[in-house]
Amino acid sequence: MKREKFGSRLGFILISAGCAIGLGNVWRFPYITGQYGGAAFVIIYLCCLVLLGFPIMVMEFSVGRAAGCGIARAFDRLEPAGTKWHWYKWFGIAGNYLLMMFYTTIGGWLLIYLFKMASGSFSGMNAERIEGEFSSLMGQPVLMTVFMILVVVLCFAIVSMGLQKGVEGITKGMMVLLFILLIVLAVRSIMLPGAGEGLKFYLLPDFGKMKEAGIMEVISAAMGQSFFTLSLGIGAMAIFGSYIDKKRRLAGEVVCITILDTSVALISGLIIFPASFAFGVNPDSGPNLIFITLPNIFNSMAGGRFWGAIFFLCMFFASASTIIAVFENIIAFAMDLTGCSRKKAVAVNLVAIIILSIPCVLGYNVLSGFAPLGEGTAILDLEDFIVSNNLLPLGSLVYVLFCTTRYGWGWKNFLAEANTGEGLKFPKWVRFYATFIVPLIVIFLFIQGYWSKFAG
Ligand code: PHE
Repeated sequence: MKREKFGSRLGFILISAGCAIGLGNVWRFPYITGQYGGAAFVIIYLCCLVLLGFPIMVMEFSVGRAAGCGIARAFDRLEPAGTKWHWYKWFGIAGNYLLMMFYTTIGGWLLIYLFKMASGSFSGMNAERIEGEFSSLMGQPVLMTVFMILVVVLCFAIVSMGLQKGVEGITKGMMVLLFILLIVLAVRSIMLPGAGEGLKFYLLPDFGKMKEAGIMEVISAAMGQSFFTLSLGIGAMAIFGSYIDKKRRLAGEVVCITILDTSVALISGLIIFPASFAFGVNPDSGPNLIFITLPNIFNSMAGGRFWGAIFFLCMFFASASTIIAVFENIIAFAMDLTGCSRKKAVAVNLVAIIILSIPCVLGYNVLSGFAPLGEGTAILDLEDFIVSNNLLPLGSLVYVLFCTTRYGWGWKNFLAEANTGEGLKFPKWVRFYATFIVPLIVIFLFIQGYWSKFAG
């Protein structure tokens, strides 16, 4: 069977950006930034993107492009004979499934909120009732399951249409629309009276607040966020490297994708912080920011029903583009491993993902007595913890070691692949840094993450 390819370079960049742009940008970035005190966190986060995210993404794409396939076979093809790097495939694919096990549920919440906003069902509610709405949603496993299934079916339907017609065609449109709508929302938010305080919080660094949380904790959170937002460590990006030709060097493509991803995160902040401050609310409510704080804000805003609906549409697009991309990786994994058809891979995984996503839904109601990571946590938090704090950094470490040491694919092969074609070169002098410093930073911050979670 001939391998499918993207129709255009723009398609490749937008699909990879679509995979990267997701809840990490529009939800997690603003709430972590809010918790850690605004601009100071943003600066550290940007450093992590450049120092860690950039080289690792180039490595993922190089492995995918050189092998011409996803993680199901990539390491088998590139590793030196007799080594066991290919065991990584199980680690990577587990990460993709685990991520979807909670992502689809949140996608469902967003869809529900989109309908609620558009139909005006929040209007006239006070803050307490809006909070009550979210808790009552958490108490309705059937409703949550129905919307989770809707999201899964919709995204798999797109993937089943094929790489070019389905994934590329639809995601491209969604991404363009997402950018336009986000910019409109940001302009609206910045023009609100009193928005200036929010801009100050977001753009003027206050290192005091960061010291309170502990500088090391903040840095490790920033690293975690940079891996999460760029989709690194579980081969989610590598697969797209296998769908492109060798005309362009990879570093330039990574720069474009990272800029797109970062712009969406930064624009989300420009929407959320000015609006929060304009209506006198503190944006430090953590994960509740989107589902409780913001609906409240839209309620007090002129034309809030309209703006709220657009906002949740953006959120939904961002999450759907990620789900579609990860589904594509899961399908490619099945096809590469077993040689089955796209349709069959979709059919089996459709059922599997729906079943696997159910524990997350039940974690808020039927299984709410189970608090895996301490009081107030649910199954979602456990799944998120396994992926974000473990699989993404450790998987990224695997890519780095594979591409830099001679026990793996090795620096020469990696560099030759990354620099095949035209465009920005991946600089040779980065070798020492990539081989020794990057792994040390990742390991250090990985341990630090555990420390601050359990001992701090
Ligand atoms: N980058 C995605 C987001 O920001 C999440 C993701 C992580 C996707 C890892 C794939 C792999 O929402």
